[in-house]
Amino acid sequence: MKPWEKTTVNEKGHMVFGGCDMVELAGIYGTPLYVLDEQYVRSVCRGFVGTLQKCGARGRVLYASKALCTSALYRIVAQEGLGADVVSGGELYTALEAGFPADRIYLHGNNKTPQEIRMALEADIACLVVDSHEEIGLIASIARELGKTARVSLRTKPGIEAHTHEYIMTAKEDCKFGLGLYDGEAEKAVREILAHPELELTGIHCHIGSQIFELEPFLIATDRLTDFAVELRDRFGVTISEINFGGGYGITYTDGDAAMEPYDYVEAMIENLHAQCDKKGLPRLGFVIEPGRSIVGEAGLTLYTVGTVKHIPNVRTYVSVDGGMGDNPRQILYGSVYTSRLANKPEAPAAESVTVAGRCCESGDVLIKEAPLPPCEAGDILAVFSTGAYNYSMASNYNRVPVPAMALVSNGKHGLIVRRQSYEQLVENDLTPDWID
Ligand code: LLP
Repeated sequence: MKPWEKTTVNEKGHMVFGGCDMVELAGIYGTPLYVLDEQYVRSVCRGFVGTLQKCGARGRVLYASKALCTSALYRIVAQEGLGADVVSGGELYTALEAGFPADRIYLHGNNKTPQEIRMALEADIACLVVDSHEEIGLIASIARELGKTARVSLRTKPGIEAHTHEYIMTAKEDCKFGLGLYDGEAEKAVREILAHPELELTGIHCHIGSQIFELEPFLIATDRLTDFAVELRDRFGVTISEINFGGGYGITYTDGDAAMEPYDYVEAMIENLHAQCDKKGLPRLGFVIEPGRSIVGEAGLTLYTVGTVKHIPNVRTYVSVDGGMGDNPRQILYGSVYTSRLANKPEAPAAESVTVAGRCCESGDVLIKEAPLPPCEAGDILAVFSTGAYNYSMASNYNRVPVPAMALVSNGKHGLIVRRQSYEQLVENDLTPDWID
């Protein structure tokens, strides 16, 4: 079912999501408002963990924090038994502050700072995913100083181009992430890791892209990484314990998207991993994945208030809302397409295709170029679907517009999990040197 088909309509004729009246919620917390459905997040987490169990896979599901990072979400995800992948000191700090178990956290990044590495080692996180040659010596020296052994995994580039937006392809050769499997770079890194007694090589990693709708590239990744595991065993005498395949499972943004259940990819990948391990004489290696978008994307929607409606005769109608590229930069960055409905009249038939524009001083600040909607007027509440991933986490203060609040909805209960940024917070880091009056 598409995310908009999962909403219902109550006796007031309002849209209901997560058991809550979206018009009422907009009235209580104001707009723009990010809304996240707790039960949806929990059910996807359970689906992933259950699939690993069903397939008899050893391993872990790590939630990719970059999709959406808030304290309450970390608690939910931890309760469901997942680990977390973090990519910065800020994400690591948020996770630890939220009480996320350190021994389930993996640290990523193509340019981790010495401070971030130190923070990770001091917290005794599960694993640091090595992404460069420079980092190897750096992790080893900080580990030595702290008297610790660092568990590391190696991020590789298996040379796969998954069909997705060019900016989010990450495992092809011309890419800043990881070390090449076929140009000797990954092998060189293994040699460097093994030369440091402070480092323990526990696994290998790849992430082939995001918003992927095909199974094939994931299966190729399974083949290629198990080949590399064989090489590690035969050439270096190393038996790794797990392979991490990153995230990337596509979700539904539009009627045209045909997203597979993410568990179907996972089941096929585990079957292939086990078959490859058996065939290649490897023990059945641990299966690790890092889904982000598929856990929170469809769990979220954003509510906006319509302000102005401009009909340009014979051209188009612009419906402007009180948010835009500041809270959702994905249209302007990637040309992403979204689906919307009016929350105060979800059953009114669409009358024309309008352009939903944001409020920023930039012509390109458009949320949806072609949105079939009923006639809109000031005060209407517009719901934009599938905004749970990479919206709040990519929000900015362009035009000094505060970042919206986020409400968690759960079977009719609701509460804020992120407060709306205030004007005071917008100026709190501003300084005026004393030579300026
Ligand atoms: N693991 C690694 C190493 C990653 O780089 C990513 C995403 C993930 C896991 C999670 O992938 P997911 O399951 O969410 O597809 N800002 C872009 C997406 C960038 C994704 C970057 N890496 C967007 O808004 O589409």
